Amino acid sequence: MSRLPVILSVFCHWALFTIPFYATAAEHKIEVSDFGKTSDGASVSRYVLINRQGVEAVVITYGATLVSLKVPDRAGKSADVVLGYDTLEGYEQGKSYFGGTIGRYGNRIAHGEFTLDGTTFHLPKNDGPNSLHGGTVGFNKRIWAGVDRSRADAEVLELSYTSAAGEEGYPGTLKVKVTYTLPAEANELRIDYTATTDKDTVINLTNHSYFNLSGDASREIVDHQLLLRAQQFTPVDATLIPTGELRAVRGTPFDFTKPAAIGERIHQDDEQLKFGKGYDHNWALERTKKVGLELAAEVLEPTSGRVLEVLTTEPGIQFYSGNFLDGTAKGKGGQLYAHRTGLCLETQHFPDSPNHPGFPSTVLKPGETYRSSTVLRFSTRK
Ligand code: BGC
Repeated sequence: MSRLPVILSVFCHWALFTIPFYATAAEHKIEVSDFGKTSDGASVSRYVLINRQGVEAVVITYGATLVSLKVPDRAGKSADVVLGYDTLEGYEQGKSYFGGTIGRYGNRIAHGEFTLDGTTFHLPKNDGPNSLHGGTVGFNKRIWAGVDRSRADAEVLELSYTSAAGEEGYPGTLKVKVTYTLPAEANELRIDYTATTDKDTVINLTNHSYFNLSGDASREIVDHQLLLRAQQFTPVDATLIPTGELRAVRGTPFDFTKPAAIGERIHQDDEQLKFGKGYDHNWALERTKKVGLELAAEVLEPTSGRVLEVLTTEPGIQFYSGNFLDGTAKGKGGQLYAHRTGLCLETQHFPDSPNHPGFPSTVLKPGETYRSSTVLRFSTRK
């Protein structure tokens, strides 16, 4: 008897189940390539995460930095909505923290000093009298180890870094992981942070992406409509250190409880706006549950129709309107990033918490695991 019908039937079954699997599997992927060497010879890799909906995220192992994020507009046209550089040299020399993972302590610590368990620790003062974003060589300037942990339903990039005890003045050896997850079907990039320590320390991790949802970084972000789910913010002194007060936003230019254009009140005669040279403050987020992700902010760019929702497990968010961009940073495609051409929404614990016992604690102890998650969710509106 001929074996042909059996062979044919086996082939047809194989084709029926295997070909469609490869056809769909090929549509979401992660690709790794070389991004060059740092000035002291360390190799840096570049990971490209692509989903089935036209979203593409590029992350490099230098600073666990998000270097590009392409999302569709209301016509389905994808464009890069974050600022950054084309080259590693740009990131090494850059002073604006574009897309970087910020640590060990995001935002400012007053006078570069804090006391923990009776010992006073001294940090580099790299922002006037204060320490900013982890010091002179923060996590955004370190080399992280990348591992592809992709699943059938998502591209997953895990990056690890061990910060030695005493690095930039902080106590305790800190083992940190940052995981970027791009689901195959949803237009959102999730960032999860975990960390453990061998000695009491302080920690406040965030991502420092500058968004311009128009996809055109030559345009200011002042027409972006912003909503912040916060009834209070933490006012600052002239060096941008919180005074300790939690102030109601109602009746001030800091009220974004209803969507408002960023530029609408930015020039008002307001002491806080003067200190920040615009918005550069921490909002205390309204939380309805103790744990889990909740909506913190929503941004709409009217021309493209792109909408960004930021969800977080953190108690605060720093909204920074790109006030210190001054046209000197030469970004992607040679674009000089001018004043207010990008905005940051840094999910975080409050700035200078180690010196404010009344703020939610940023202390991490041995045996505990620090956890923080943020989701950048994209959609469009007519
Ligand atoms: C700070 C700004 C600072 C910027 C650096 C923000 O998180 O709040 O004051 O200039 O980072 O790019």
